[in-house]
Amino acid sequence: MFVNPKARTWTCSSTIDVEINSFHCSLPGYTQTPLLDCSSIAAELDLRNVFLKDESTRMGLPAFKILGASWATYKAIKKLLQLPPTVNVQTVMNVIAQKHQSLTLFAATDGNHGRAVAKMATMLGIQSQIFVPQYLNKPTRNLIENEGARIVEVLGDYDEAVIRAKATAHVLGSDGLLIQDTAFDGYEDIPQWIVDGYSTMMYEADSQIYNITQARPDVVLVPVGVGSLAQSVVTHYKSQGHPCTIIAVEPDSANCLQTSLKSGISTSVSTKDTIMCGLNCGTVSSIAWPILQKGIDVSVCVTDVEAHESLLQLRECQVVIGPCAAATLAALKKVVRGKSTAPGLDKDSVVLLLGTEGIRDYEVPTR
Ligand SMILES: Cc1ncc(COP(=O)(O)O)c(C=O)c1O
Repeated sequence: MFVNPKARTWTCSSTIDVEINSFHCSLPGYTQTPLLDCSSIAAELDLRNVFLKDESTRMGLPAFKILGASWATYKAIKKLLQLPPTVNVQTVMNVIAQKHQSLTLFAATDGNHGRAVAKMATMLGIQSQIFVPQYLNKPTRNLIENEGARIVEVLGDYDEAVIRAKATAHVLGSDGLLIQDTAFDGYEDIPQWIVDGYSTMMYEADSQIYNITQARPDVVLVPVGVGSLAQSVVTHYKSQGHPCTIIAVEPDSANCLQTSLKSGISTSVSTKDTIMCGLNCGTVSSIAWPILQKGIDVSVCVTDVEAHESLLQLRECQVVIGPCAAATLAALKKVVRGKSTAPGLDKDSVVLLLGTEGIRDYEVPTR
């Protein structure tokens, strides 16, 4: 566990585009995802409320990622085709159909992001190529393929898949568009739009929580892969004028954020297979790092067994979600039971777990 006491009072300004929410509302299949009240867990941990934002059905996909992929793709295509900023999605689709059908979207993924990009490409009537690490299992590849993508297997890990996707998109010139959810030197706009797109989840959660409690979340737990979602969470909650503690959760086998926070500089780690596949990333996004370094209050690592046990506990409370999502509860329990100092976490706290994915098959881990 790593605690940054200075994050409690650190604030930032939000630059989120007010149009994002109405853009998402205009997409086929958009509805707010549910907020689940985990009252028995709140009672067990002696907290006022524990809510879980259930992203297991987000616009027809079992994860939150389409929020970022859709907004970033829309913004990137408008920029590439030099369309006026005010054109809507339907107009973008018409322009593509008339003269840009050769456009191809590229992305690297360990599951959910690639599927979201593939779905966006199909919706827009264009092709997609999704680069996957060698270890990615067959069922996950099939799900991406079923959204209409061509899968390209990379001999290496997620970081290697990002390099290959970028290089292949580059070869196509203006017909190749990389929609990647992690930033690196010279590639910042699209990842930032992805981060911005995720904000819809927090706006929904805030109003849902307010309707029940007339309060705002005091503590938010966010699962971390490359840290883009956490960047969105920190930017949102540290710019609202209400003190909010952000707890970042990573697999112990892929803890690039915690390693970086401890050493004070962004540090890549080599990763091992985990049931929390969406979090299996070795490098923090370059635009996320400066924000997470200042704005993450607590960083917690959890094991596969802990994530699995929390998933089973949530299932007993009728909350059916996947391991990346359940990792947030595992981390909350570690912080509460370990008597670690998490500022703002006490019996009056309203806690929000970001339940980022739905249930999926995985090999049950053993102790
Ligand atoms: C289900 C799930 N949760 C959380 C994350 C973490 O998001 P990020 O990589 O932006 O940290 C991912 C990333 O793909 C994911 O698939």
